[in-house]
Amino acid sequence: MATTRFAGKTVLITGGAGGLGAAMATTVAAQGGAVAILDTNQDAINTLVAKLTASGAKADGRVVDVRDGAAVTSAVDALAEALGGIHILIAAAGGSLGTPRDMDQISDADLDLVIDVNVKGTYYCARAVIPHMKKNQGGAIVTFSSIGGRSASPVTGIPYAASKAAILGLTRRLAKEVGEFGIRVNAIAPGLFLTDRLAGMFEAMSEHDRKEVLDGIPLGRMPELRECVDPVLFLASDESSYITGTVLDVNGGRLMPN
Ligand SMILES: NC(=O)c1ccc[n+]([C@@H]2O[C@H](COP(=O)([O-])OP(=O)(O)OC[C@H]3O[C@@H](n4cnc5c(N)ncnc54)[C@H](O)[C@@H]3O)[C@@H](O)[C@H]2O)c1
Repeated sequence: MATTRFAGKTVLITGGAGGLGAAMATTVAAQGGAVAILDTNQDAINTLVAKLTASGAKADGRVVDVRDGAAVTSAVDALAEALGGIHILIAAAGGSLGTPRDMDQISDADLDLVIDVNVKGTYYCARAVIPHMKKNQGGAIVTFSSIGGRSASPVTGIPYAASKAAILGLTRRLAKEVGEFGIRVNAIAPGLFLTDRLAGMFEAMSEHDRKEVLDGIPLGRMPELRECVDPVLFLASDESSYITGTVLDVNGGRLMPN
């Protein structure tokens, strides 16, 4: 891939200091883009920004909880000022966030956390970047759904399933609303990618559940992180310039929706 694919573009990545977000940040920087990170983990932001800057990329970050809409807007405005606008949003902050899978163990606070970070957080970040994208006469937003929002996954519970399904509705409606400004909005729906955090969770699952996941993958193996990063960056880049309002399933064939 050309190292200039994202030249002249600032890519805002929420949850960009860890897991898939950090992998995407590293690839965007290697492909010529400026990287703006929103994350709750200050140390991880500092480490990644220092690494990307040392590699010659433009990078900056802010500690923000995406549940705080006003804080998201101020941080996005500050990062746009520092990095020359915002052209692309990859809204990856989210997950089941350490909450239990099964209903009898899920507290009301767990439910609020998962819905608020995944759904409201994505909404607040999209709302904050749209004025910047309108200024640039276009842009691309990639939201994060999940196989757990597309089917009844054995791995994640009801709040996660509900929130990741909600992101698909958000994505479609937003795509309709901002298309006239040249802004595209698409969702990615990954299967299980073993980031540092999830490798432990996968190991902790029962052998039965692990086998159910692996047996259900026609490609017959767990993926590399790159195999999620590349499809996300396809949706973020001009290569997908006539694609909006879609969901891209990246799961080795574990789910084959109509
Ligand atoms: N890894 C997978 O298998 C997988 C599968 C399907 C979907 N996803 C989705 O991909 C996205 C990234 O997942 P991951 O596995 O890389 O997660 P991760 O936990 O490894 O990283 C998430 C990052 O988001 C940050 N974060 C958490 N809460 C935040 C908040 N309130 N505000 C700002 N930042 C916050 C964390 O500090 C961390 O750096 C999530 O939306 C997740 O649901 C992941």
